[in-house]
Amino acid sequence: MKVLVVGSGGREHAIVWKIAQSKRAEKIYCAPGNAGIAELAECVPIGAMELTKLADFAVENEIGLTVVGMDDPLVAGIVDEFEARGLRVFGPRKNAAILEGSKAFSKELMKKYNIPTAAYEVFHSAEDAVHYLKTAKFPAVLKADGLALGKGVLICKTYEEAEAGVRALMTERQFGAAGDTIVIEEFMTGREVSVLSFCDGKTIRIMTSAQDHKRAKEGDEGLNTGGMGTFSPSPFYTEETDAFCRQHIYQATVDAMAAEGREFKGVIFFGLMLTEDGPKVLEYNARFGDPETQVVLPRMDNDILDVFEACIDGTLEQMDLHFADNAAVCVVLASDGYPEKYEKGFPISGLEQFKDKEGYYVFHAGTKSEQGTCVTNGGRVLGVTALGTDLKEAKNNAYAATEWISFANKYMRSDIGSAIE
Ligand code: AMP
Ligand code: GLY
Repeated sequence: MKVLVVGSGGREHAIVWKIAQSKRAEKIYCAPGNAGIAELAECVPIGAMELTKLADFAVENEIGLTVVGMDDPLVAGIVDEFEARGLRVFGPRKNAAILEGSKAFSKELMKKYNIPTAAYEVFHSAEDAVHYLKTAKFPAVLKADGLALGKGVLICKTYEEAEAGVRALMTERQFGAAGDTIVIEEFMTGREVSVLSFCDGKTIRIMTSAQDHKRAKEGDEGLNTGGMGTFSPSPFYTEETDAFCRQHIYQATVDAMAAEGREFKGVIFFGLMLTEDGPKVLEYNARFGDPETQVVLPRMDNDILDVFEACIDGTLEQMDLHFADNAAVCVVLASDGYPEKYEKGFPISGLEQFKDKEGYYVFHAGTKSEQGTCVTNGGRVLGVTALGTDLKEAKNNAYAATEWISFANKYMRSDIGSAIE
């Protein structure tokens, strides 16, 4: 089968790598891809939001399956476009991708179907939001309704901060239309866990748990980023937590979407907070996590093409997922200054050290090839993943492997996975 993957980050590199393990993968294309992906797939210079061009490419090249890694094209309706052209594609349709595309929608869904989440209110005008804040409890959490590159969430300690946040989102429109509607919700404390799942519209199969480190600096300080590293499994995600989530969150979400006429096929990423009152949903994403995918897929035993097809065909019930009884840690190597200002274009050395080393992977996020040399091309440059028999060993292995790589302005956190010790 010929497969097309849409996206260009570390997540898509991990997806392409996993597809390449399948005997059924005859040829893999990736649009637009990056320098690491180019070693496993033919990269096609079409942007992830060029939906018509992507569908034209898939028709012309007889692509048997397209897998969409990113949220923007899903929310924009790439799956509907492909299906209208008779193409097989893995991911939710536009009317289901709204689970990630609108926080107001997802909160209303959870309220209607009694799925545990933080208490909240939705506002369509700055005036109403500010009026509400006058009697709200602090800290309060402000969320832009739409997609804002993971930056549309503001945790406000005081009324003044929250008022300024409302102005930034709704009056100054810092994230454009994404902030025309906002959610204000209760601040929760606890440990965060990421749980990814495959869904076929009716059945849901849970992958192994993971945890992301979102802040730029050690000790979870500094600005929010796309993710500085991950580990899997999360030792805080106990059997008891799993049983609760299976009963009250996972299947309930899939059933709620079906009941709303928005059948969800694809990956639901549950961002959970393990609070004193039990697990609650922080957010839903309608796609694989980045960099969660870089620790979850190396532990998965199934042929991923079989799983993608079962989701499309509605036969997931007949399939079980299998994960190795080991652990994985991914350390992101970034350009110093990320997520603010940073330089690009520096040559990267040491990548060849990962060749044929079992249990060590380097997934490219922001790289490109310049006259045959791989150079840095983004804030997050590489994700170094290593397996181990347990989290401690995986962490030691991952940090040892980060030393194999050199480039100017290389930056990483030294405490990825240290919460586990
Ligand atoms: P989200 O994009 O909704 O996942 O929010 C980004 C991050 O903000 C989350 O990973 C949490 O660390 C934090 N966050 C979001 N909502 C809340 C909340 N209600 N209480 C505390 N922290 C939150
Ligand atoms: N790692 C968080 C996300 O993918 O949204």
